[in-house]
Amino acid sequence: MQKVRIGLIGLGFMGTTHFGIHKANSDTEIVALADVDEAKRRGDISSVSANLGDLDSSKPLDLSGIHVYESGFDLIRDPRVDVVDICTPTEFHADLIVAALAAGKHVFSEKPLCRNEEEFARIRKAVSEAKTFINFGLCIRAWPEYEHFCARYREGDFGNVLSATFRRLSPSVGDGHWEDWFLDGERSGGAILDLHTHDTDFIVHLLGRPRAVSSFGRCIVSRNNGIDHVITVYDYGNGMLVESEGGWGAPASTPFEMSFQAICEKATVQFMSEGFKIYWNDGTVETPKVEATTGWHVELRYFIDCVKNGIVPDKYQTPQSVFDSFHVVTAERASVRSGKSEIVHY
Ligand SMILES: NC(=O)c1ccc[n+]([C@@H]2O[C@H](COP(=O)([O-])OP(=O)(O)OC[C@H]3O[C@@H](n4cnc5c(N)ncnc54)[C@H](O)[C@@H]3O)[C@@H](O)[C@H]2O)c1
Repeated sequence: MQKVRIGLIGLGFMGTTHFGIHKANSDTEIVALADVDEAKRRGDISSVSANLGDLDSSKPLDLSGIHVYESGFDLIRDPRVDVVDICTPTEFHADLIVAALAAGKHVFSEKPLCRNEEEFARIRKAVSEAKTFINFGLCIRAWPEYEHFCARYREGDFGNVLSATFRRLSPSVGDGHWEDWFLDGERSGGAILDLHTHDTDFIVHLLGRPRAVSSFGRCIVSRNNGIDHVITVYDYGNGMLVESEGGWGAPASTPFEMSFQAICEKATVQFMSEGFKIYWNDGTVETPKVEATTGWHVELRYFIDCVKNGIVPDKYQTPQSVFDSFHVVTAERASVRSGKSEIVHY
């Protein structure tokens, strides 16, 4: 395969971010783009806003040479497309994933996987029948500081986790997104499914499957009972205390925070405002060197490399591991509603 030919669906915050990453990759060519918004189909991204990163939406994108569609399903039928990159609002993920896999395309789909069990069942069936590759945008697994911690944890460098906390606090995500969909609990699943998923997914990736979760959450800014802020304790049944907090209820002027602290047997690993540090029990402090990039870049470059070379893209995720974290978030949503601890059904 020469260049991997990308068909990108949805040109909002994530689509624009992926567009820039693919453009900078000499192994890819964006051959097709689909968006329901006519301005986006002209490359006008002036309405796009971001809660994280350094997106520049001041200049229109150059779409010359790119076939532009209104419907993602028409893009999927385009024989030029090797990889369908799905960056639409979550409510469209399941239909697009199923159609793209059925058409024999490789698929990169943004997180969260989907919104509910019915969509999940359709995705799981399509993935199990597919001969092509699929990865999901669970970028924290590939975010350099998190990846470094996970790799060395698995090597046994730090000993077991005794207590760990993970935090993701975003400014409000209302303006600058298609039909204000994030703040509609029915459409986005609220911060618990959309944003906090990243930490749940990383916890499952790092520590395996919790047997139960206890979650507390509330609606602050959303319509349709979206859970805008959540705190979860993950029950591993072995005394390990693991907790995570996520939310997007704060005003748009609030800075974004993503951080963690893991107290392990031999050291405490922190990714906080002081930077990424390892505080060893003997008093030494280590500042690990990691690549100055984002998980979005790392995960997409990796996936494209796998497609180009015909290698199964399982370094950061298997479909089963993504399904596992979806089940954990589903139990968290149930726990907020029931006010009780909920067993996770895998
Ligand atoms: N991995 C991450 O860190 C991260 C960060 C933000 C968003 N996301 C995810 O990315 C996805 C998109 O979020 P966003 O912030 O870019 O949203 P957005 O609202 O900024 O952009 C969505 C885009 O999709 C277009 N669109 C809407 N319906 C469509 C359809 N049926 N077909 C084609 N195009 C359609 C809209 O016109 C818009 O251009 C969501 O699933 C979100 O959860 C992931």
